Amino acid sequence: MFHPKLFENRNVVVTGGGRGIGLEVARQFLDCGARVLVHLGRGAERDLPDFLLTAEEDRRAFLVTADFSTPGGTSGFAEKVLATFDRVHVLVNNAGTMVGRFPADALTDAQYETIVRLNQTSVVEVTRALLPAMRAAQEAAIVNTVSISALTGGSPGSAVYSASKAFVATYSKALARELAPNGIRVNCVSPGTIETDFHQRYSSPEKLEQTRKGIPLQRLGTSEDCAPAYLFLSAPSLSGYITGQVLEINGGQLIC
Ligand SMILES: NC(=O)c1ccc[n+]([C@@H]2O[C@H](COP(=O)([O-])OP(=O)(O)OC[C@H]3O[C@@H](n4cnc5c(N)ncnc54)[C@H](OP(=O)(O)O)[C@@H]3O)[C@@H](O)[C@H]2O)c1
Repeated sequence: MFHPKLFENRNVVVTGGGRGIGLEVARQFLDCGARVLVHLGRGAERDLPDFLLTAEEDRRAFLVTADFSTPGGTSGFAEKVLATFDRVHVLVNNAGTMVGRFPADALTDAQYETIVRLNQTSVVEVTRALLPAMRAAQEAAIVNTVSISALTGGSPGSAVYSASKAFVATYSKALARELAPNGIRVNCVSPGTIETDFHQRYSSPEKLEQTRKGIPLQRLGTSEDCAPAYLFLSAPSLSGYITGQVLEINGGQLIC
């Protein structure tokens, strides 16, 4: 648990914050005093946790929906961010998913386009749109969610998804250099196999158990395992000399 005032008077944007890793990241930023604009995802009807509704009532959380897999999805989102915050201290680009498992020879143009638009293009577009507000913030930080599969290539049917995460990792390293003169740090968090709705959709219980056995710490990860890394990489007082790095959170699943 970080200090409850670590992000006091800081404006934080978390995409993909309606569930899973992003929801826990948003919760921990709120616990540390931030104002958090939470992108909930596409906006399907789902019960939101009490802490988020209470924070919304207190005007510490601002809840926004947007589909990033459609053209124009990110621009409408960015407009809402800029209508809420004139400065952005922290941007967490976390929205993403595998979309499905697609054998390389059966992948359609539409599937390819959707995976790339969601996991890759949306990160570039949201970052571009919010950069002036991040420059204005001074000492801002971007934390992008990538994946262990960016290094390993992932499992069958995830080639384009895994490659899109590798794109984001490399994009982040390049941005780290480019934005350092503006006082903006750029890092990534790379989850291993984390128990969220993600794997409920794309991995069988047998596959997950097999994965678990191969992890040195002998368990799958949780959103709670991941979230502190985002706060650490966002706080100038904790990580002010760290930029252009990828922090792997995987129980030792990948050690290299
Ligand atoms: N779980 C893992 O093992 C794992 C491993 C490596 C990397 N990751 C990455 O970690 C991030 C968070 O994943 P998670 O495990 O927390 O999965 P999750 O529970 O499925 O959450 C994914 C988030 O992304 C949003 N999202 C999905 N499609 C979207 C779209 N078309 N437009 C806008 N938002 C969309 C979701 O919103 P909806 O509610 O609308 O779907 C949700 O808020 C993702 O970038 C994922 O690729 C996860």
